[in-house]
Amino acid sequence: MSLNSVICDLFGIEVPIVLAGMGEASTPALAAAVSNAGGLGIIGAAATGPNGLVKLIAETRRLTDRPFGVDTLLPASARRRGAGPGQGGMPDLTPYQRFTSEFIEKQGLTPPVPRDFKALAPDRDGPMIFTKEFFEAQMEVIIEQKVPVYAAGLGDPAPWIDRLRANGTRVMAVIGKVVHANRVAQSGVDVIVAQGHDAGGHNSPIGTMALVPQVVDAVDVPVLAAGGIIDGRGVAAAMMLGAAGAWVGTAFLATEEAGIYDFQKQALIDSSEADTTISRALTGKPARMIKNRWTEAWEEAEIEPLPMPFQSIVAAPAMAAGIRARRADILPGFAGQGAGAIREVRPAAEVLRDLVHDAEAVLKSASTFI
Ligand SMILES: Cc1cc2nc3c(=O)[nH]c(=O)nc-3n(C[C@H](O)[C@H](O)[C@H](O)COP(=O)(O)O)c2cc1C
Repeated sequence: MSLNSVICDLFGIEVPIVLAGMGEASTPALAAAVSNAGGLGIIGAAATGPNGLVKLIAETRRLTDRPFGVDTLLPASARRRGAGPGQGGMPDLTPYQRFTSEFIEKQGLTPPVPRDFKALAPDRDGPMIFTKEFFEAQMEVIIEQKVPVYAAGLGDPAPWIDRLRANGTRVMAVIGKVVHANRVAQSGVDVIVAQGHDAGGHNSPIGTMALVPQVVDAVDVPVLAAGGIIDGRGVAAAMMLGAAGAWVGTAFLATEEAGIYDFQKQALIDSSEADTTISRALTGKPARMIKNRWTEAWEEAEIEPLPMPFQSIVAAPAMAAGIRARRADILPGFAGQGAGAIREVRPAAEVLRDLVHDAEAVLKSASTFI
């Protein structure tokens, strides 16, 4: 008897555990390692340009012949016409950029040169700013490449669903509220990821434990639970809440294959369960990350960060300078509240194996409570 659910047949996988799309962290190597070990690997492609995306998909196909997926963001705010540079919707960034320059100076960082910006997302060929055209170009690649699974990490993939499904692509959407679950269910997604407040990255105000059963009750499609699932007990608990499996991020960050810097993997190991914070200072949307001087500086200055997609332009020089200096107090990265349970960097296949094995063990012992 092994861990199983409806999503195993739906995706053609062995165990109902999905690697979360995590920007540059979810590399082809990480996605392939998870797929090869029986789960579903998802490539994180949020800020990857169309040419970079073609390469990521080819690399993943070289590393695995199992199903895999691609995750991008489709934020409604940035998809509205007029949000891009020169389209009239651009706010005056000057005072914000001055704040960034002062931060760089106060922190004793070296102002970044163009090559430092590349280190934010190596080989990803992404734009400086999210625009409607950028998202449309990404989606054309995803459709052309006939990927097995597509996940919308933010927003509703409705405009592309018919073309994706005609290719046989299974479509997922990540949501943080019941109202959004209902919306993407109506759009025809195959699977909904209910991502709660505990999660790393863009974030819901509702805790995972409360969110998952309410989403399960609201929709007729399988639901994956996300947020704070760090070991097999979390996977088992998610399934007891009615989820068909887990979408796991932070637990796969401290792996050899994850595309984050070694100093960021060390920051995960050094963090306790209380060392994350939610801030809009990086992307303009509330996101959970390890506490750092950049988010503290915004809180202290009491300045409201700009909305997505503009805040990333303001943050980029500080983040690039932080990476260049390998400063974990400047850019330790996104992480969930489960970070406190991470003790070491391991191969992803080992992390997946333990998630499955420990979930099976606690599910088998569940009847002892009756
Ligand atoms: C480093 C990092 C980057 C992330 N980037 C993305 C992303 O690009 N797209 C997305 O849909 N979600 C992103 N997320 C959220 C994850 O997909 C997932 O929902 C979350 O990690 C689950 O919570 P957990 O970290 O507690 O497992 C990111 C999370 C982390 C930790």
